[in-house]
Amino acid sequence: MHPDLIAAPGRYPMSSRYDPTWVMSLEMGPHPLWQLEELWPGLALSPGQHVLDLGAGRGATSVVLAREASVTVDALDAWISPEELGQVVRAAGVEGSVRALQGDVRTWDFEAESYDAIVSIDAWEYFGTDVRFLPRLLRALKPGGVLAFSTPSLADDPYAVAPLPLLRDLVGADVMAWHSPQWWATHTQVTGGLEDVRAWIPRDSLDLWCAWEDALDTDDRRLREVLEAYRRHSTESPALGMVHVVARKPIGSC
Ligand SMILES: C[S@@+](CC[C@H](N)C(=O)[O-])C[C@H]1O[C@@H](n2cnc3c(N)ncnc32)[C@H](O)[C@@H]1O
Repeated sequence: MHPDLIAAPGRYPMSSRYDPTWVMSLEMGPHPLWQLEELWPGLALSPGQHVLDLGAGRGATSVVLAREASVTVDALDAWISPEELGQVVRAAGVEGSVRALQGDVRTWDFEAESYDAIVSIDAWEYFGTDVRFLPRLLRALKPGGVLAFSTPSLADDPYAVAPLPLLRDLVGADVMAWHSPQWWATHTQVTGGLEDVRAWIPRDSLDLWCAWEDALDTDDRRLREVLEAYRRHSTESPALGMVHVVARKPIGSC
């Protein structure tokens, strides 16, 4: 591991307050705190608010939400047990603010209008394409509440331009969920009835993803090769990256 490669105090000051080796020890995908920080201004959280961290994984973002915004967090994840997530939360000293839950969001029984914000980092690709998903999930969001998620995205939608064979070989049919920012913006607005929808891939998204992979320095180089191939296909903006989507539930909707 090369933690020095992901020191980014200028780009991501909040994330830089956290030990990169701690973040890497919880890794399940590209730097989760960078993605959260990219969404942070749109979230506009206030102390005491209640947040759903959807697909929280091993809990890095839940810890940061609790610490940095003084909110209470429901950390829901399908694959990671509450014991494992709870251990991370306890070690970070925020067990009073984060509730670890295990289950499938697609069938989870949420209390109506219980969250001020729903955040999801690198998990939306597993469930977010279903046109019936958002209407059900958004019943749990208060009117005026914010939805903010990040997910892998191809600048050219995979249904319009075939993904590179290297990527298709690596992730299989799942790549067809790596929609373009425009696709996600339209899908979120139309299926969720949300307003103020913004979707963007940061200009340096692919470079940041490469830096993360270089820092991890795993034996399996296949993802790194995919990222490099997309770098060669990029012009001024990245051909592949993490799309960030922020939207608001209209006041007066239920
Ligand atoms: C790539 S990992 C990212 C985890 C974490 N957010 C991070 O960035 O480190 C995707 C996560 O989504 C969760 N997930 C996938 N499908 C889910 C579902 N249907 N309901 C709840 N969580 C789900 C998985 O359990 C997994 O932890």
